[in-house]
Amino acid sequence: LLDRGHTGVLSGKTVVITAGPTREPIDPVRYISNHSSGKMGYALASAASKAGARVVLVSGPVALTPPAGVEVRQVLTAEDMLREASAAADEGCDLFIATAAVADYRPETCAGDKIKKSSEAMALSLKRNPDTLATIAGRDDAPFTVGFAAETSDVASYATDKMQRKKLNMIVANDVSAPGLGFNSDNNAVTVFWPGGQASLGPDSKTNIARELVAMISEHLGQAAR
Ligand code: CTP
Ligand code: CA
Repeated sequence: LLDRGHTGVLSGKTVVITAGPTREPIDPVRYISNHSSGKMGYALASAASKAGARVVLVSGPVALTPPAGVEVRQVLTAEDMLREASAAADEGCDLFIATAAVADYRPETCAGDKIKKSSEAMALSLKRNPDTLATIAGRDDAPFTVGFAAETSDVASYATDKMQRKKLNMIVANDVSAPGLGFNSDNNAVTVFWPGGQASLGPDSKTNIARELVAMISEHLGQAAR
């Protein structure tokens, strides 16, 4: 259906991709984070680069080798991610893809010293983190924006609601409760939604899904430009 061998569909375009988890420090030795290998984001960065784009990858801590030719900007926290993604958007960005598993909350304060255990129970005060994707999509000079939604139930309704709420051009939804797919896996199956349509991809390798996503996104990006 999609021409997998087609290269150059993103030539002349700058693509900014967020990937991996963020880490929110509790004290010098502990943090709050999310499950995320970064594999989908890195596969997309590689596919976009092969399609001719200049690619900036804003990456949380992952154990992956950056794809050749991709500019990586390492970040730790959600606030770092917003700052680096905004800086990349300021430099000029045609397409923004958010695959990162951002921690929705961070500890209100980070203890200067390691917290010692004492009572049987303890409470941690958390504060909402900024939303990088919604911030980029809400800019006056917003690029074409694509979000990801990892859900465990009601995948289609949560995903399309996120697309509308964050003013996205497309959203890629996956059911992370499906066995052997999603988190840490090399494989994935996703449904892509845009206003007025949807398409399913996979189950397939994240490399192949990334290639097909780049082709699909490029088509919609081309239509938006017309
Ligand atoms: N996202 C982001 N910054 C955040 C939270 C989410 O950029 N602080 C992006 C993710 O990278 C993803 C999309 O928003 O592309 C959806 O993330 P998700 O966690 O599914 O959505 P939330 O709006 O955080 O809703 P919830 O976790 O409550 O389902
Ligand atoms: Ca979230």
